Parts: sequence; C-alpha cells; structure tokens
Amino acid sequence: MTRQDKDPLRVAVFVSGRGSNLQALIDATQKGQSSARLAAVLSNRDGVYALERAQRAGIPARVFLRRDYASRAEQQAAMLAYLRQVGAELMVLAGFDQIVEPSLVRALEGRVINIHPSLLPSFGGGLHGQADALAYGVKVSGCTVHFVTEGVDTGPIIMQAPVPVLEDDTVETLSARILEQEHRILPAAVELYAEGRLRIEGRRVRILPPAGKSD
Ligand code: GAR
Repeated sequence: MTRQDKDPLRVAVFVSGRGSNLQALIDATQKGQSSARLAAVLSNRDGVYALERAQRAGIPARVFLRRDYASRAEQQAAMLAYLRQVGAELMVLAGFDQIVEPSLVRALEGRVINIHPSLLPSFGGGLHGQADALAYGVKVSGCTVHFVTEGVDTGPIIMQAPVPVLEDDTVETLSARILEQEHRILPAAVELYAEGRLRIEGRRVRILPPAGKSD
C-alpha cells in the first residue's frame, strides 16, 4: 500500500527561532499533494516567530523551556511524551538549537531528521555552519538534510544542495543563499520519507523510485 492510499504521515517540527524552514514545510504540506501533515510544533524557546507561524497555520504548538525541568534529559523526556500524545511519526529538527539527548534519539531511531547549513561532514557540530565555511575559505558550501543519530550532525545523509561561495560574500549573504536551498531540500526530504522512499543502508541512504516504478 502506498502512502497515497493512507492517512498523511504525522510530522512534528522542532524549532527555536525564526522558523523559516517550518514555513517552507507549512507551504509544502498546504499545497494539497503532500503525503505529510504537520501534527505539532515543539519549541525550546518562548516568544519566537516560529510559534507565530505555527499558530497562523493552525498547528498545535507547545513550549518546553529548559528552566522548567531539572535537566535537559527531563525536558526532552517531556517532549517525547508529547510526541507520543500527538502520534508523531516523523520528527524534523528545523533550526532547533539543542543537542538531542541520546535517550530521545534511541527512542525515535530512524524517525528524526535535521537540516544543517553546511555540506556535512564539513562544518558540523554547531550553530555557525555558514560563518565557519566562510572563515575556512571554501569555494562551495551548502546544506544537508540527514537522519539524527547520537553523534551531532553525523547521521546518514538524505539530501544535500551545494551553494557557491562568492568573492564578496558575507555571513549574511551566504546564509541567505543557503537558506533558499534549505527551503527546497527539507520539504523534499520530508516528502520522500512520507512516501516511504528512504532506506538507510549503513551510512548511506538509498532513495527508492516512486511506487510503481523500479530502478
Ligand atoms: C537554518 O539555517 C538551519 O539550517 C540552522 O538554523 C537556521 C534556522 O533557521 N540550523 C542549524 O544550524 C542546526 N545546527 P529557521 O529558524 O529560519 O528555519
């Protein structure tokens, strides 16, 4: 049975700030041909613009502040309980600025994906992928969607998009061009997952042909 015959995949999106990648997912899933639907937004920060975007789109959103819990593990355990409550099937980290606890990764193995603003494995492990690439002097940077594993930014890669670094680039101009590509590949990766077309084989992620076609 293909996803088209089933209910849309229930996706939860983790955010911490502006939420432009969340918006790209909202736009893609509202087009009507998506195999995914956004079931919940989880934020570790209050008052961020991503929450406004969720509200405008009518997506239930919940804030889990670190200071309300004794540890990050407890905070993320509360997030896991919420994910189960809303029946989330795929978790998308879209600008989420916390390290995901090993216990959460293990509980959701193979069902969490992340967008990172560099061509991994270069310039992973932090929140400044674009600035680090520029400072290093690379001629090509880009973005990566990958499965989340216990290592930070080291999980199997689903999709990447290259972005040339221009002579007069600043962190802002490079980040803006990378972001355009993020907004393209993140919804594309979610759709592939929702269609059941991603198969993890060790470090590699095989993209299967659409249902009914073979390669
Ligand atoms: C995006 O550029 C995303 O790739 C990056 O944060 C930004 C969030 O923007 N994520 C990371 O650096 C994760 N290590 P957004 O809130 O507008 O989607």
